[in-house]
Amino acid sequence: MSRKFAKSSSILLDDNPLWYRDAVIYEVHVRAFHDGNGDGIGDFQGLSEKLDYLQDLGVTALWLLPFYVSPLKDDGYDIADYTQIHPDYGTLHDFRLFLRAAHERGIRVITELVINHTSDQHPWFLRARDAKPGTSARNFYVWSDTQERYPEARIIFKDFEPSNWSWDPMAKAYYWHRFYSHQPDLNFDNPEVHKAIFDALDFWLDMGVDGLRLDAVPYLYEREGTNCENLAETHAFLKKLRQHVDSKYKNRMLLAEANQWPEDAVAYFGDGDECHMAFHFPVMPRLFMSLYMEDRFPIIDILDQTPAIPESSQWALFLRNHDELTLEMVTDEDRDYMYKVYASDPRARINLGIRRRLAPLLATNRRRVELLNSLLFSLPGTPVIYYGDEIGMGDNIYLGDRNGVRTPMQWSADRNAGFSRTNPQRLYLPVIIDPEHHYETVNVDAQQQNPASLLWWMKRLVLLRKNYQAFGRGTIEFLLPDNRKVLVFVRRLSDEIILVVANLSRFVNYVELDLSAYKGMVPVELFGHTRFPSMS
Ligand code: BGC
Repeated sequence: MSRKFAKSSSILLDDNPLWYRDAVIYEVHVRAFHDGNGDGIGDFQGLSEKLDYLQDLGVTALWLLPFYVSPLKDDGYDIADYTQIHPDYGTLHDFRLFLRAAHERGIRVITELVINHTSDQHPWFLRARDAKPGTSARNFYVWSDTQERYPEARIIFKDFEPSNWSWDPMAKAYYWHRFYSHQPDLNFDNPEVHKAIFDALDFWLDMGVDGLRLDAVPYLYEREGTNCENLAETHAFLKKLRQHVDSKYKNRMLLAEANQWPEDAVAYFGDGDECHMAFHFPVMPRLFMSLYMEDRFPIIDILDQTPAIPESSQWALFLRNHDELTLEMVTDEDRDYMYKVYASDPRARINLGIRRRLAPLLATNRRRVELLNSLLFSLPGTPVIYYGDEIGMGDNIYLGDRNGVRTPMQWSADRNAGFSRTNPQRLYLPVIIDPEHHYETVNVDAQQQNPASLLWWMKRLVLLRKNYQAFGRGTIEFLLPDNRKVLVFVRRLSDEIILVVANLSRFVNYVELDLSAYKGMVPVELFGHTRFPSMS
């Protein structure tokens, strides 16, 4: 039954294996978007009800954060059952209805495949801790009698965890975890683990899911004498995963979450035979740096350090996401700078990053928000919008962990921001009521009625992007005029030639561009279609 459903559902989409290169992705947490059953928690019913909004915004793919059965100690990245929906969010039937409704609108769906670790409540872990050492059941996870192994592996959640090893009193051994101690790492040296992961992947791809974000993918294997990141074994496994996907399915996409320097991140594309996409983490903080420094250098420098990628591959670019604005891929000096200028309040800092949304980071300055979004949409890669940033939503740094950037979507000035009909005290997280970003003013309803709003500007940006394939597939060439406050580049795909000029300064600037290569052509401003004098 489910297979039949899936097949008919994916038929609704165009047959385009490279769809991700021209996509505009919208990242959303089911829990945070819309509450359909009035219990204070967003669900698939609610998300389905808001698909018209997403279609109107113009996005072509949704990336959903984990919605599986989980104790929710890491907001669902701690999975206790890979093939069941958390009851808070609905049922598998609700998910299928949602998927079909999204496909009917030409919107593809990307879900999460968290394969590095599970919850300590996953039956695999409960079984492993009871199993005899040396058995396959035990070896689903990585065990040790001492905490001395793999000392070169860094601690990622350094505000919360003192070690990558934790003691399990049942197993009477230490187990390995790169994230929270309630998230034991799976052992990829065990072939049974591969099989179990392939089964989970098949379950969702059979249903018709279009893409999978591979969470925390650099850490799959551990080897003594290494930092246990980006190992050859990890790449070999991913190639095997890709082969499996290619042999069974059409038009699907794997997206690597590898928070790494460009030369390591690029390895996740393989020779076009590993992941189709990978996030470009290092470019993100440099966009913010360039803006504050009013200097194009950080952006150009990191893109210069980024190797070319295979023809069918694509970077995923983002300004903000559900995590902290990570500062792992910057130098110590740059991190100090970013903290100083973007997180002077220590409460805004977490691990090696900043837990703030886009608008508050940019001092709610509409022009800066537009500038960074313009760069997000015009630099090489596929843009990912974080839910709520299209209306300039605020955050709440007084909530724990990264919850301050995961508050309910603001739909209207009604009770609970139109997110839920429930008693406000029952909401999974409080709505934003800080005076500058109060939901009574910052909400979809108000902005839909005002064609000059940020939401309308974002809609125009999305449309503009979709009209020109050069943004997703074209080459990039930087022009280097004397004035470093101005970032200039040309995106080109056959006869589509797009000149992007971004003034990073707060003030009006003067720049002289050598456009002699385009002599005789007539520039047309893309937002207003205004024709400029031809170039002499
Ligand atoms: C996710 C985080 C999560 C971590 C551990 C990351 O890559 O983006 O939200 O806490 O993985 O699963």
